[in-house]
Amino acid sequence: MASYGFFDDLNREYVITRPDTPLPWINYLGSEAYFGLISNTAGGYSFYRDARLRRITRYRYNNVPLDYGGRYIYLRDNDTAVFWSPTWQPTRHELENYTCRHGLSYTVIDSTCSGIKAKIRYFVPLGESLEIWQLSVTNLRESPARLSAFTGIEFCLWDAQDDATNFQRNLNIGEVEVDAGVIYHKTEYRERRNHFSFFACSEPLAGFDTQRDLFLGPYRGWDRPAVVERGQSLNSVAHGWAPFGSHHLRLELLPGETRQIILLLGYHENPDGQKFDPPGSQTIDKRTIQPIIAKYLRSENVESAFAALRSYWDDLLSVLHVETPDLHTDRMVNIWNAYQCMVTFNLSRSASYFESGMGRGVGFRDSNQDLVGFVHMVPTRARERILDLAATQLDTGGAYHQYQPLTKRGNDQVGTGFNDDPLWLILGVAAYLKETGDDSILDVLVPYDHRPGSEQPLYEHLQRSLHYILERLGPHGLPLIGRADWNDCLNLNTFSSSPGESFQTAAHRDGKVAESVLIGGLFVLAARELAAIAEWRGPKEDASRYTDEAARMEATLLEHGWDGSWFLRAYDDLGQKVGSHECDEGQIFIEPQGICAMAGIGLRDGRAEKALAAVKDNLVTPNGIILLKPAYSHYYLELGEISSYPPGYKENASVFCHTNPWIMIAEAIIGHGDQAHDYYTRINPSAREGISDVHRCEPYVYAQMIAGRDASTPGEAKNSWLTGTAAWNYAAITQWILGIRPTLAGLEVAPVIPVGWSGFKAQRVYRSVTYHISVERVGPGDSVALVADGLPVAGQIIPLPPAGQAEVKVRALLG
Ligand code: BGC
Ligand code: NOJ
Repeated sequence: MASYGFFDDLNREYVITRPDTPLPWINYLGSEAYFGLISNTAGGYSFYRDARLRRITRYRYNNVPLDYGGRYIYLRDNDTAVFWSPTWQPTRHELENYTCRHGLSYTVIDSTCSGIKAKIRYFVPLGESLEIWQLSVTNLRESPARLSAFTGIEFCLWDAQDDATNFQRNLNIGEVEVDAGVIYHKTEYRERRNHFSFFACSEPLAGFDTQRDLFLGPYRGWDRPAVVERGQSLNSVAHGWAPFGSHHLRLELLPGETRQIILLLGYHENPDGQKFDPPGSQTIDKRTIQPIIAKYLRSENVESAFAALRSYWDDLLSVLHVETPDLHTDRMVNIWNAYQCMVTFNLSRSASYFESGMGRGVGFRDSNQDLVGFVHMVPTRARERILDLAATQLDTGGAYHQYQPLTKRGNDQVGTGFNDDPLWLILGVAAYLKETGDDSILDVLVPYDHRPGSEQPLYEHLQRSLHYILERLGPHGLPLIGRADWNDCLNLNTFSSSPGESFQTAAHRDGKVAESVLIGGLFVLAARELAAIAEWRGPKEDASRYTDEAARMEATLLEHGWDGSWFLRAYDDLGQKVGSHECDEGQIFIEPQGICAMAGIGLRDGRAEKALAAVKDNLVTPNGIILLKPAYSHYYLELGEISSYPPGYKENASVFCHTNPWIMIAEAIIGHGDQAHDYYTRINPSAREGISDVHRCEPYVYAQMIAGRDASTPGEAKNSWLTGTAAWNYAAITQWILGIRPTLAGLEVAPVIPVGWSGFKAQRVYRSVTYHISVERVGPGDSVALVADGLPVAGQIIPLPPAGQAEVKVRALLG
């Protein structure tokens, strides 16, 4: 197997040592409002808040070759006319010593070609809407080097979807300004936009270009631009066509000399009344942006912004730090899984190599689950996210399935009716409360569907979430599935026979028959969480009400949702079982086995254990646990999209990684530490690094799916980065296997680790107290005896220390 790089744990970087990775291995820039994705060869794009509506640069999804459009630099030897890209793409000229270091919110690409070393560090300063490209060029030759450097980016005309389709208009509207060496992109600024982007350079220019097709030349691509080949910019000014940004610098470097160049690409808004200078002209008023540009063109400010970014990540990651006997666990928990959780929180499901940033806004179900993975790092942003999500809930208790981040309003195209959606809000809020203890959030008045006058306390929203399910029960008393439940592709009311029709939004049945066992299990889980919340902060009578509802649903599930050896998946619109040994295909599904056990269903009578044994016997593969078995070999009209995928891919029996941690958690709940950690390791990307040629996606982040055993490419991952897998694996390993678990009453320590582990150490900052936890195995079991600051603790929850005490030492004896 080829090696493409290695983990540098000390620096928290993944170092890629050859540019031709199996797929672009990407990273993210930006933490708050300005974001970009960047590949190991500098491909990618940037946007402000919303990858669809405020796209700053273009990127060509689906391009041949892969990964075209990016943050490019060309270097040219003016004596020989040889030119290359220090990031390999787009010229793909051979390089020596190429490395790409993907770090936390920054990427550094470094290479040497013909005795010229170049290094570019890309990052977004905290609090700013711009990215910095810090380029240094060193002459390693023994003679002076006369070089040209050209930058190259392609501006997007803001709305990425329109930009890729509406050519009759778009080829006419592009406008730029070039002023004092800064290239401003201002398409539509003359009319209804008050924002523009800018591309600035710290050095005096030998020229510039802003018209793409003049820069590239007719019939040429990014790999061989005419301007670079000739060695001289044209000072082109774009009018329509494709606005572009290229600076041209000439560099004369003595032997051993290094030059630092700073480039800034950013986004800026002017107040409506101050768009033009002088007023009445069509020239951008640059008075508010110029000081920002000037600030970051100075290297001492760039260095301090980078140091601030590093310490921002130090702080975020210091909330939980573990030292276990397993390197892959430590690396993911301490660095990459936590990082992926933050990126997933920031971007939801909008922009990755696999997500074009146009299709999907912020998902209701997805974002509530993401909370579980990041709430401990940024509780205030979790609070804000919860309130945004709740404001897209409808007064029925149902929810818009997604919203656009720029408008925060529910997306009508996708609409509502995914009947599991509202339950995730309860789980998201529960995670927030357990982490922070901040019950004031429950009293915040939040509207339904943003409708003024409809505001109700968040607690009422949570109650309506449960009632939404109870008001929609089917023939067996199980929840109706609606358009789909967690599994977007189990579309039991769709019956679609028209090509191209959306499986999620078309409905050719009235939805009154098909029921979901998964939603039933999720209901029990959520009702028990809400009961616990009510018990904790009142009203207490709600606690018994929801406990009773949970018990009723549990009884229904045991009666109608049990197949003999595992939990059924659903009943379809024809009243037929889905996920039963009676089915021809799709006899056992993973989701209800995990979720029901997590909800406590079948724990007492051994059914949960039996269901998990069935998972082990039927679904476990070397690459993880597949979603169902046997895979659907043809299209079933009554099941929907799930059977549209070829066997082994996506929801049709891939290892759909999001579901695997549910089984890990369930195994931990029944005390199987070895089994839980074994499942954890099978999909841990770091543990799969050695098979990168098979896995193909980045070894430092989870992917949504790994092709299952029925696929022609088993083990091949797809859809990396933006997936609920990040949050759930983080929860499984940290809260259930390592067992450091926030609860409403305080921090619980209840590890269920492999028998072979002698223990582990952890540091956890929780409600402003730092817990230094040492777990020591004294026997093979999982019972815990806790000692906090030398005093024995009754039970598994460490009492919160008196106000003012900042540290607690915890010993956990496990045996
Ligand atoms: C995918 C699902 C995804 C859904 C979202 C489907 O095509 O297979 O994984 O959740 O689209 O719209
Ligand atoms: C990805 C979607 O974003 C998520 O909401 C869904 O639960 C899974 N696919 C499974 O279909």
